[in-house]
Amino acid sequence: MLRLVDLSKTLPALQPDLPPRELLRGIDLDLAAGDYVAIMGESGCGKSTLLNLIAGLDRPSGGHVELDGRNLSALDDNGVTRLRAARMGFVFQAFHVLPHLTVAQNVALPLALNRIEPIEPRVHEMLAAVDLAARAGSRPRELSGGELQRVAIARALVHRPALVLADEPTGNLDPETAERILALLRESVVAHQAIGILVTHSHAAAASADRVLRLGRDGRLEPA
Ligand SMILES: Nc1ncnc2c1ncn2[C@@H]1O[C@H](COP(=O)(O)OP(=O)(O)O)[C@@H](O)[C@H]1O
Ligand SMILES: [Mg+2]
Repeated sequence: MLRLVDLSKTLPALQPDLPPRELLRGIDLDLAAGDYVAIMGESGCGKSTLLNLIAGLDRPSGGHVELDGRNLSALDDNGVTRLRAARMGFVFQAFHVLPHLTVAQNVALPLALNRIEPIEPRVHEMLAAVDLAARAGSRPRELSGGELQRVAIARALVHRPALVLADEPTGNLDPETAERILALLRESVVAHQAIGILVTHSHAAAASADRVLRLGRDGRLEPA
């Protein structure tokens, strides 16, 4: 169960004569196991910021995030990091694939962190699912943007997280690959009764979720 309670994020003003920017305002959301929602909204409206708050990568200005009854604000950085590693899979907009590790080593990380074994068959299965089995030994610098994006997706799903957060995960993919990746995300949520949140600009991608929410310029999250 994921609960967002009166969540807000205010950023400092861009110029001294302007008011602070209320990026997110009074956001309430309850999601249960198996729920899969898409969040849309204009570029710069705060979608990535919202996902970062949910993942505990950033702290809210007001309100709080609860995962399985635990208030993230009550945990210290180590506690949040442990909870994230164990329960969440995050597909970053900028991939954040580790450059000095191979593709397989990147995907193995969440398994190693959570002491899930055996590692190799799970990594192989996941790489096959994103059509990268042949690139297991490659380094990130040898991969295209679309391939890196699929590494990031494999890494986010390999430990079967309870909460899947995907930030524009198909932004660098051709339509056909995007469709397969969206199906994989959906499958991962359904098969493991996870909670999925998909941030996307694409109406086609959003349609793969059960419900579409829109983050407005006013910082409110509402049904689309
Ligand atoms: N850590 C930060 N400090 C200052 N401004 C930030 C920070 N993170 C994001 N922003 C600003 O907040 C706004 C929303 O950013 P973001 O959440 O990335 O939007 P989106 O993902 O919807 O495109 C942008 O104007 C961005 O510059
Ligand atoms: Mg973003």
